[in-house]
Amino acid sequence: MSKIPVAVLAATGAVGQRFVQLLADHPWFEIAAVTGSARTAGERYGDSVRWILTEPMPEAVANLVVQPTEPNLDVPVVFSALPTVEARELEPAFASAGYAVVTNASAYRMTENVPLLIPEINPEHTALIPRQQERCGWPGFIVASPNCSTTSAVLPMHIFDRAFGLRAALITTMQAISGAGYPGVSALDIVDNIVPHIPGEDEKLENEPRKLLGRMSGGELVLAELAISAEATRVPVRDGHLAAVSVRLEEQATPEEAIEALRAWQPPAIAAELPSSPAQTLVYRDEADRPQPRLDRSNGAGLAWTVGNVRRCPVLDLRYMALTHNTLRGAASGAILNAELLVAQGIIPRP
Ligand SMILES: NC(=O)c1ccc[n+]([C@@H]2O[C@H](COP(=O)([O-])OP(=O)(O)OC[C@H]3O[C@@H](n4cnc5c(N)ncnc54)[C@H](OP(=O)(O)O)[C@@H]3O)[C@@H](O)[C@H]2O)c1
Repeated sequence: MSKIPVAVLAATGAVGQRFVQLLADHPWFEIAAVTGSARTAGERYGDSVRWILTEPMPEAVANLVVQPTEPNLDVPVVFSALPTVEARELEPAFASAGYAVVTNASAYRMTENVPLLIPEINPEHTALIPRQQERCGWPGFIVASPNCSTTSAVLPMHIFDRAFGLRAALITTMQAISGAGYPGVSALDIVDNIVPHIPGEDEKLENEPRKLLGRMSGGELVLAELAISAEATRVPVRDGHLAAVSVRLEEQATPEEAIEALRAWQPPAIAAELPSSPAQTLVYRDEADRPQPRLDRSNGAGLAWTVGNVRRCPVLDLRYMALTHNTLRGAASGAILNAELLVAQGIIPRP
């Protein structure tokens, strides 16, 4: 098929750059426009951006002129890497002008009828889109990716929920510096240190899994009945969020049974067949000291979950460690996979 033209909103930031890099050779999408704030609009992209990725900046995008972030772009799909405050105002403006808005921002993640998507977990939640369009009276729509820290913890929660029933979780995250964007956290705050608070993050970890694990019933989404207590921390790691999770189950399971459930899990066929889908979505490591950010964040081109250390929890039932790459699976790659799902489901038309 010929490619679908797309725009990246806030293309100069940490996540925006990831979109630019990942979409450069995408089989279904091609970047037709990049946008920024008043600071960069009107400049050549290559001159306006402080490129922080090790991969080279794609030349075709370097030569684009940064557009103001306004809904007058000649594309059907926009990938949003806007900061939350700007996303709150601008994403509905794009949806009401008819765009498919595929966002990483937190502004509408928990809004009723906005699908919060991970294709491997809840592809059926896109059924909320017609309801969103009807209730908001707009021809376009918004779909959101979860927070990068929620992403790292949630796939084993989903697998255990389906296998044994999940009733409660305690989550402690160790989150990478790049999760705070660029320039993000001051070196004086994070070198030789751990910061035990990330504003708003505990609440996202406590709410978003209930939506991701929710079930569609009569066209509505019913949130999962699940109590979660979360502590988010920032650690001196460049990329890769690690989550330590303890879970209470409905049906008792031994660590061996839980590991077997993780190893046996396969993503739904529609997710497995998407062009960016990794060959192995969940990598289980037997070594006691894995997963580790530096060693495991690039598994599956940054789209795989690496899980290990499933053991008995003396307080709840079981515990585990899970890791994902925060700007890839937890942000740009996850959103691109969401857009691929929308194409595969016929919600974004192929040209
Ligand atoms: N970093 C992560 O791991 C991660 C993971 C998941 C989700 N997110 C979410 O993704 C979004 C972007 O995060 P980030 O880490 O990329 O932040 P960042 O590095 O601080 O980048 C911010 C971007 O927003 C743009 N911007 C600021 N004000 C704007 C405006 N009024 N109109 C248009 N663009 C504007 C900036 O453009 P100029 O350069 O043109 O000023 C810049 O491109 C946030 O909502 C964040 O919560 C981040």
